[in-house]
Amino acid sequence: MIYLDNAATTLKKPPQVAEAVCRAMGTLGNAARGAHGSSVGAARTIFDAREKIAKLFGCRDPSRVIFTNNATESLNIAIFGAFSPGDHVISTDLEHNSVLRPLYALEEERGLELSFVPADRQGRLDYDAFERLLRPNTRAVVCTHGSNLTGNLVDLRRVGDFVKAHGLLWIVDASQTAGSQPIDMAALGIDILCFTGHKGMLGPQGTGCLLLGPGVELRPFKRGGSGIHSYDRHQPMTYPTRLEAGTLNGHGIAGLSAAVDFLNSVGLETIAAHEAALTRRFYEAVRNIPGVTVYGDFEHPHGAIVSLNIRDYDSGAVADALSEVYGIATRAGAHCAPRMHRTLGTEDQGAVRFSFSWYTTAEEIDAAAQAVRQLAE
Ligand code: ALA
Repeated sequence: MIYLDNAATTLKKPPQVAEAVCRAMGTLGNAARGAHGSSVGAARTIFDAREKIAKLFGCRDPSRVIFTNNATESLNIAIFGAFSPGDHVISTDLEHNSVLRPLYALEEERGLELSFVPADRQGRLDYDAFERLLRPNTRAVVCTHGSNLTGNLVDLRRVGDFVKAHGLLWIVDASQTAGSQPIDMAALGIDILCFTGHKGMLGPQGTGCLLLGPGVELRPFKRGGSGIHSYDRHQPMTYPTRLEAGTLNGHGIAGLSAAVDFLNSVGLETIAAHEAALTRRFYEAVRNIPGVTVYGDFEHPHGAIVSLNIRDYDSGAVADALSEVYGIATRAGAHCAPRMHRTLGTEDQGAVRFSFSWYTTAEEIDAAAQAVRQLAE
């Protein structure tokens, strides 16, 4: 199989990730739930992971690295924990349902006011719209770092300037970029960074992170066992416990920690350059094939995603042919990105998404481009 569905999850991981998970499964107790060696060992493993992740993303305080199950949980904790009735939030048409659905729920249930920065037919954000959409009660911007459909990257410096100029809270969904693009929260002024561990981070599924900048306060999203203050009726308000009720996925976090070691050993700049070269190679190979429509903006920094359609064929049928005839795994359909598909005019057809990782090779790119050419012919 040629696996080109890395935006859904990376299939190939560094071998040390599985080794760390297996080791953890044989050794870790429950962190912060005991004073014996295996419990302390679990706490140490998890704290070590917090420190590494804080350093990788420019989060100044490791106790503000919150572990979650995935980016969706991180975004729910952030969105439900930050906003109050009457707040106005600016988001974008690039967002995934993990941002949209929590925001829509707050709009319907608690009177949150929402506006969306539009994108053009190439999926490029209209950055000037941020100023136009500003209201006296605007409280925050929630935006992705990279579209999971087009792969377009958002210019975080530009959004950050807007956020800073108006003193807003800024939540960034880095699901498609964490581990593939360098992100420095402190330098960019990001208040809350959310991502999953199983995509570009190359870690296990069931791991995710929510990183909080200095001074950012969130209401607890879930309440329960914390291992401390057991007689208190309320969730402890210290971080990370405030946002981490229940036993953590220590085994997965051990794997994620090993994945961070791997990312550091290669270097995010090197990974970003490799993925950019693969993306460019595939784009150049398919863009002029008669009958192929490629979506997205390839003139500006771009993530490791190329989405396309062949004539008016249903994207699911094309993905099935790629899989069954050529052994190439892609993702078709709507990709949980309804606003982006509507903008591109692909609501009915969907699109076939090819997405790459550190482990994708140039030979795989060429074979996929050749398959697209043959199907188009
Ligand atoms: N959010 C993931 C994707 O875009 C699953 O495929």
